[in-house]
Amino acid sequence: MLFSFMKKHVYITTFGCQMNVHDSEKMAGILEQEGYSLRDNPKDADLIIFNTCSIRQKAEQKFYSELGRIKSLKKRRPDLKIAVAGCIAQQQGRAILKKVPHVDYVFGPQNIHMLSDMLRTNKDVVAVDDNPEIAELDLPVSRKEGVRAWVSIMYGCNNFCSYCIVPYTRGRERSRPSENIYREVAGLASNGFKEVTLLGQNVNSYRSDVDFSGLLKKINSIEGIDRIRFVTSHPHDLSDDLIISMKELDRVCEHIHLPLQSGSSRILELMNRGYTYEDYRRKVERLKDAIPHISITTDIIAGFHGETDNDYMATINAVNDIEFDGIFAFKFSPRPGTRAANMEGQLSDEIKSERLSEILEIQDKISFMKNEALRGSVQEILVEGVSETDKGKLTGRTRTNKIVNFRGTDVHVGQMLYVEIVEARRHSLEGRPVR
Ligand code: SAH
Ligand code: SF4
Ligand code: F3S
Repeated sequence: MLFSFMKKHVYITTFGCQMNVHDSEKMAGILEQEGYSLRDNPKDADLIIFNTCSIRQKAEQKFYSELGRIKSLKKRRPDLKIAVAGCIAQQQGRAILKKVPHVDYVFGPQNIHMLSDMLRTNKDVVAVDDNPEIAELDLPVSRKEGVRAWVSIMYGCNNFCSYCIVPYTRGRERSRPSENIYREVAGLASNGFKEVTLLGQNVNSYRSDVDFSGLLKKINSIEGIDRIRFVTSHPHDLSDDLIISMKELDRVCEHIHLPLQSGSSRILELMNRGYTYEDYRRKVERLKDAIPHISITTDIIAGFHGETDNDYMATINAVNDIEFDGIFAFKFSPRPGTRAANMEGQLSDEIKSERLSEILEIQDKISFMKNEALRGSVQEILVEGVSETDKGKLTGRTRTNKIVNFRGTDVHVGQMLYVEIVEARRHSLEGRPVR
């Protein structure tokens, strides 16, 4: 009783990509070792961590407005500690302390391991140094779900796409030794996890003692892990060897997230993506030839500086031509410090919005058509838990990463189940378990 009274509480709020979500799991892992327990409400916490994202301006604004709201809590309880982590922390460093005095700690994605030391000081701390050792660290991870797990395999990015802030916030590419990754995944398997997603800003440029195909082969040999996924792949690094490995390795799922960004080769060059639309198209053909039912999802940026009507039409044609299974599309947001921020030909927000909604509208029809084609088929799903959209149902995913909701009971969670697809929606499927 006394112990639980004395226990410290932490509230972590996460913005941004899966890598950030996973970094929050690492922070929680470290803090649990320090005697903290996680809370869902900032009011119950002794420590509040904002794990931030600066990929687009909107993400940044959202963070600052939430940070502002916490100020009154700190006023009432001066011993409350507030930390800013993640990509905004890395980019703005000490400036955050100056701008928002109620912040105590600022630390970047390469300095998560400093968390314990930070908590022991009573002074403000800023930890944003480059940390080349990051790939050698095996930090504890606190995972809430027991079925699917995310595992970092490489950190940073060397690509410097002209619009992107990530190389400035996550530093240079560093891959973890394959042995460490193997050990972590084997540990997950013995703890009952069924699926792993290998994480990196550029997973397929993974290189340590083995390359990415070699790593997949190693992980594929781990008994108990039924499904292996990975995000995000760069089209430039998608080799034939990797396509063959995806085809041959039975646990590697038939899905790839392969950001295209634009259908115009001229814009792709301005973006410094390292491939033309034709190169991308050829790789998609190879993927489809090797793995006929593969699902391919992508990211698109609408309204890059200098995007003409013709460039935009090239993107529309690409979306119609490739028929992606799903798209994440964003309005171009110039990021200070990146090359694209100073390029000419800025488009109005209105044009960007128009282009974005047209792309999404076209894709919605394609996604629905693709889902509709699965109606009547039987799919293997891994059951994850209660559906977010309908609490009366359970949810799982096909190997191709499509969400399937169905009526089931708790015993199904963590199981592989065969379901017949009885209804298609734009972003999910309805299933009925079959024997
Ligand atoms: N490493 C991954 C993705 C990183 S960010 C890759 O190379 O694809 C996720 C997505 O955010 C990108 O694919 C891109 O579509 C989008 N994005 C990145 N910077 C952006 C910006 N400045 N404005 C709008 N969208 C951006
Ligand atoms: Fe950003 Fe490009 Fe690196 Fe992806 S590959 S993180 S878009 S710089
Ligand atoms: Fe955002 Fe940083 Fe991820 S900028 S998208 S949290 S790598």
